Amino acid sequence: LEHLLSDRPLTGTKILITAGPTREAIDPVRYLSNHSSGKMGYALASAAKRLGAEVTIVSGPVALSTPAGCQCIAVQSALDMRKAVMSEVAKADIFIGCAAVADYRPAQQVEQKIKKSRDEMQLTLIKNPDILSEVAALPNRPFVVGFAAETQDLEHYARDKLSRKRLDMIAANDVSKQNIGFNSEQNALSVFWPSGETKLPECDKHSLALQLLDVIAEQYKEKQD
Ligand code: CTP
Ligand code: CA
Repeated sequence: LEHLLSDRPLTGTKILITAGPTREAIDPVRYLSNHSSGKMGYALASAAKRLGAEVTIVSGPVALSTPAGCQCIAVQSALDMRKAVMSEVAKADIFIGCAAVADYRPAQQVEQKIKKSRDEMQLTLIKNPDILSEVAALPNRPFVVGFAAETQDLEHYARDKLSRKRLDMIAANDVSKQNIGFNSEQNALSVFWPSGETKLPECDKHSLALQLLDVIAEQYKEKQD
């Protein structure tokens, strides 16, 4: 990784990264969310900065501080995240969707706290927009990198997301393994792009982030030429 830090292959590039979970309000005091810690997205932001990039993070609620020199836009819901991303993306050369965006949100957002009454209650959910797909569908799109969290058939589902969402690259992690991936210090990634793939074995998220950005920088440059 030494050569990377001295070569700074992302010098002059602007990178937009989504990170963390989203919170989908049920009422003024409750929400639906997930266990994403934001550590992978923040590690990518910090590594991208070290490799010379200008970095903006659009972040859901996390207990992390913004890496030095990075800009951070804090959001809550998937709809907020989409709005922030859409207003920033025109400036970006590379977009990395690392957030664990909630797939669904409560259909109705009520103004008052829901009172406890019946023994059973039902929540109706509706699908959130897919931010990553929307970025990939833009006319002047940046180089688009997605993440995929899978518990089975990793390559099959990752390659399916790569082509269905029209991504340039996807980094897949196996969340069925204990102690790696979601909400942990360690991670391992299988990275796929239309004409190739590479495996980044289990290590801490900071080294992994540098290695992933090295792969991204290489494919990004190849696409420019
Ligand atoms: N993503 C997004 N907006 C959403 C849902 C997901 O931008 N509403 C992005 C994530 O940031 C990630 C990628 O899409 O980069 C894949 O997320 P994942 O949850 O693995 O895939 P989904 O397409 O949501 O499919 P599923 O959850 O059914 O596997
Ligand atoms: Ca999902």
